Amino acid sequence: MHGTFDTPADAYRALNSVAWPVVIKADGLCAGKGVFLAPDFADAKDFVERVMEKNELGPGGRRILLEETLEGEELSFIILTDGKRYAPLVPTRDHKRVFDGNQGPNTGGMGAYSSDELLPDDLRELIRSTIVEPTLHGLAADGIPYQGFLYIGLMLTKSGPKVLEFNCRLGDPEAQAIVARMDFDLAETLADVAAGCLEPSKMRWKPGASACVVLTSGGYPGKFETGKRIEGLTGVDNITGVRVFHAGTKLAGGTLVTNGGRVLGITAAAGALGDSLALAYATASRIHFAGMHYRKDIGAHATHLRAAGN
Ligand code: GLY
Repeated sequence: MHGTFDTPADAYRALNSVAWPVVIKADGLCAGKGVFLAPDFADAKDFVERVMEKNELGPGGRRILLEETLEGEELSFIILTDGKRYAPLVPTRDHKRVFDGNQGPNTGGMGAYSSDELLPDDLRELIRSTIVEPTLHGLAADGIPYQGFLYIGLMLTKSGPKVLEFNCRLGDPEAQAIVARMDFDLAETLADVAAGCLEPSKMRWKPGASACVVLTSGGYPGKFETGKRIEGLTGVDNITGVRVFHAGTKLAGGTLVTNGGRVLGITAAAGALGDSLALAYATASRIHFAGMHYRKDIGAHATHLRAAGN
């Protein structure tokens, strides 16, 4: 039985009558680690026990949801709204599992890419009319003024796009791939949003594609060590099309060291997805810290989106 459960006993009972695999979600914030696709009862019970009884994810795991598994490709559809008007940002796709081939546990995001080809016009219109606009109308009808980014995590199933989650923020690492394609002044646009006068036509985007490869500490999303010296960053910001976003870093006595699970987002924009990925990976290969891990297959399944020869 699917639903929301406040006690482990109720959750275990419900697991006796679900179809496998089942999706288990912690109801609170868990830094991207609160979702588990359980293949069978034993693994599901183990996750519920860790989250609800051992509190491994903290207070965000006190209540869980059991949900039907949706099959398809994920799409991050993020909009900016001033409460009256809205503009979709360029579409992105995240890679949440820690290892290549979508293996291993979920993370906050190991990499993302953006290409307009992720979102054919008819799909964009369907998402706008059946998901975005009803959501904005619902917020208005409920008297909830909403100004800012609204992140809609979608699964593109055979029976259409389905909402996995809403977040009141840009995604990470989707944000890096999106920023790499911005051809407008973000600060000015955000001031317009705050003032309630968003002008969607001012939000212009660079054609082509972008990609972000996240470099993580070894062991993430489980236990990891910090304080590792980061080498190889000199000059990378001067490479045309490349931007390095710092996430888990700090300066220790003038030396840049790791200070989190997701350490750096190596981001590149180019005319085609294959070129963006090649540039991001070439840049990542110059950087080093002890235990460094990153996925080698960001965007690899999107061969239909690559330019010939890339
Ligand atoms: N990358 C997924 C998120 O930010 O929620």
